[in-house]
Amino acid sequence: MLIRPRRNRKSAVIRDMVQENQVSAANLIFPLFIVEGQNQKTEISSMPGIYRYSIDNLLREVECCLELGLRSFDLFPNIDESLKDPYASESHREGNLYVRAIQSVKSHFPEACVVTDVAMDPYSSDGHDGLVVNGNIVNDASLEILGKMALAHAHAGADIIAPSDMMDGRVGYIRQLLDENGFTNVSIMSYTAKYASAFYGPFRDALNSAPKHGDKKTYQMNPANQREALIEATLDTQEGADFLMVKPGLPYLDVVKLLKDNFDLPIAVYNISGEYAMLKAAARNGWIDEQGAVKEVLTSFKRAGASAILTYHAKEVLQNKWL
Ligand code: PBG
Repeated sequence: MLIRPRRNRKSAVIRDMVQENQVSAANLIFPLFIVEGQNQKTEISSMPGIYRYSIDNLLREVECCLELGLRSFDLFPNIDESLKDPYASESHREGNLYVRAIQSVKSHFPEACVVTDVAMDPYSSDGHDGLVVNGNIVNDASLEILGKMALAHAHAGADIIAPSDMMDGRVGYIRQLLDENGFTNVSIMSYTAKYASAFYGPFRDALNSAPKHGDKKTYQMNPANQREALIEATLDTQEGADFLMVKPGLPYLDVVKLLKDNFDLPIAVYNISGEYAMLKAAARNGWIDEQGAVKEVLTSFKRAGASAILTYHAKEVLQNKWL
């Protein structure tokens, strides 16, 4: 045999030398859940090791992450039911929980990169990402609300705005509004190919944000479709997105690769709550080697073409030196 591929695997030194992909702290974005109150830190039962923090404890958590070299955070608010209405009015009210959290993190840690989620579901009494009228999720009227939310985040100091709602035209709408208001420097990380997934369950527990009726299939994508992601990515690119995101992660690696091969914008991937919960459950039962599995999953995102990886594993991999 002239060619023996095993020669390049014969020692750790050579394996490391020829390794094609390496995840580093710079690639990771850590999602954090926030809640009203003081000195709050409550674990989400379906996401062991992940908590909802009041702003004071959020600051402690961010500081701890920064010391580990983890510098990017995506914030998600848990909103009291009494503040929810059909119009998600609370989402753009001055001084709301989200705005205060963004301001606090950015004023204490200006070097941190704060990503914010734009969608109505945490604030909507219908639990949908857009406005519900006669049982339908209406597109264009939702844009106005999403735009107000994005502006509130930009005013508070968000570095990157991430619309996760999947309404048509929202990237362009938000981009224009940001620019008109002087926020030309605020980035947009679009949830470009966000699928109607069964893996969002634990996240909806964390925020108590599950739809009160129906499902999200008229706006989130059909898990059976790949080509449709190209349509979404073309639009987001034309509308001024700075990143294209695929979500969930593991079941959609083909879509990450497809976008990487067809677009020049950096690709982000969201390794979502249900993916985290599955792995944790198996690890806790002793059914899987957690360190190996987490590293393999994160590496697979890099291999598929992602630059940014949103993952609930971010802190533990750095704390335990798993990468
Ligand atoms: C809501 C939103 C969801 C997630 C991020 N933003 C859930 C949904 O669409 O119902 C999911 C994140 C996760 O599961 O980790 N717009």
